[in-house]
Amino acid sequence: MTDSLIRTPIRQLLATAPTGQAVRVRGWVRSRRGNKYVQFVALNDGSGFHNLQIVADLNRFSEESLRDVGTGACISVDGILVASQGKGQAVEVQAEHIEVLGATDADEYPIQKRGADQKGISLEALREIAHLRPRTNTFGAVLRVRHALAYAIHHYFHERGFYYLHTPVITGADAEGAGQMFRVTTLDAAAPPRTPEGAVDFGQDFFARPTNLTVSGQLEAECGALALGQVYTFGPTFRAENSNTTRHLAEFWMIEPEVAFNGLPENMALAEDFLRYLVRFALDTCPDDLAFLTEQYDKELLTRLRFVVDNDFQRLTYTEAVEILKAAKQKFEFPVEWGTDLQSEHERYLVERHFRKPVILTDYPKEIKAFYMKINDDGRTVRAMDVLFPGIGEIIGGSQREENEARLRQRMREMHVDEHELWWYLELRKFGTAPHAGFGLGFERLVLFVTGMTNIRDVIPFPRYPRSAEF
Ligand code: 4AD
Ligand code: MG
Repeated sequence: MTDSLIRTPIRQLLATAPTGQAVRVRGWVRSRRGNKYVQFVALNDGSGFHNLQIVADLNRFSEESLRDVGTGACISVDGILVASQGKGQAVEVQAEHIEVLGATDADEYPIQKRGADQKGISLEALREIAHLRPRTNTFGAVLRVRHALAYAIHHYFHERGFYYLHTPVITGADAEGAGQMFRVTTLDAAAPPRTPEGAVDFGQDFFARPTNLTVSGQLEAECGALALGQVYTFGPTFRAENSNTTRHLAEFWMIEPEVAFNGLPENMALAEDFLRYLVRFALDTCPDDLAFLTEQYDKELLTRLRFVVDNDFQRLTYTEAVEILKAAKQKFEFPVEWGTDLQSEHERYLVERHFRKPVILTDYPKEIKAFYMKINDDGRTVRAMDVLFPGIGEIIGGSQREENEARLRQRMREMHVDEHELWWYLELRKFGTAPHAGFGLGFERLVLFVTGMTNIRDVIPFPRYPRSAEF
């Protein structure tokens, strides 16, 4: 073996015809087993779901030289790629030289042989070791699917003439008017400067004003749409809501397309086409990872994903949904009345029991939606849309925007949104306003749906939620 050998990713080797070629592979040992003649090492380098089998002939290797080749160790192997004698793999590597790059103390390593999935260590326990959990089958699969979806999002928009707009992470604006934001400041928390009246003097802060981490890039995306026509954002967003649920994170990624000249129907068509494209892309691109997740966690997963690809979403208004819910035989914990926000039990009833497919709900009462949504002629409802998915509930929220300056001002006053702070947003309506619409897709809710995982904390590498930001 020469030192000029170049490492080949395992995923690539597993798809290579063996012609007795010399290869170099590097990765982490998943397991080692064997007898006194031969040892088999299952090696994974993260390039794909499947392990590569390394065969170490004990005529060539002493037991002593393999001592540190145990679960969790990182090794480099030079050897010959051959057709496998055994079942379960087409090729394997006959090791000629093994170097231990990083040994692992088996007694201390928290992820043991059983694949570190539900059968070994629990998903809850793995959250405590977020620095190591990517080495498990489950998180390897989830993270590869997550990557594929992120790539597909850019691909989808690029192919359709959308431009990727980078909206700020630090902002002075409250996009949702909801007030659940993380303050960004360089002032001394223990002794901030004060105004003569005793309030904290943000005039002396870094930006000479109060600032926060953004809850949404939408308002800035609208500036982009009214210049570039079709834009999208894809970035981290932050919400300081104290919701300890399986569907909420304090830091999550959101995709927000915004399109000039679109109304609500075009917005719905885009959302539906986009979601079906993404699910199809994952099915086509990640068959091994999705097969594993189906087998391990959710036998219905692949069926459900194909169902979404193959069937149209159900569209109905909020008012129609309320009628269905009031007529339902099911008892709900929260009663439904026109004007109240739907709870997840209501959303799930519509999607999972009544229609049995994804639902797009539109035209919500104006009181329960954000100030920027375009008001309908009835004066009571707005051109909002929520896309509801099985097992998830709301996966997308969006709307046509109010493009009339006077009506927008009126809505801001009614909802106590500061007109002075959002002067620039109002100017979009003053200078060449245009009808436009957009939506926000919660990236982790999409990954949750596609992977069949049940807790949103398990589909992002380092989840942020109340009382948790260690890694
Ligand atoms: O419905 P939301 O709050 O809408 C907006 O932020 C709009 N500005 C979007 C737009 O029109 N451009 O959030 C959009 C989506 C939700 O449907 C949900 O999927 C996700 O973002 N989401 C969260 N995901 C994880 N954790 C949270 N705390 C989330 N809050 C919202
Ligand atoms: Mg919403």
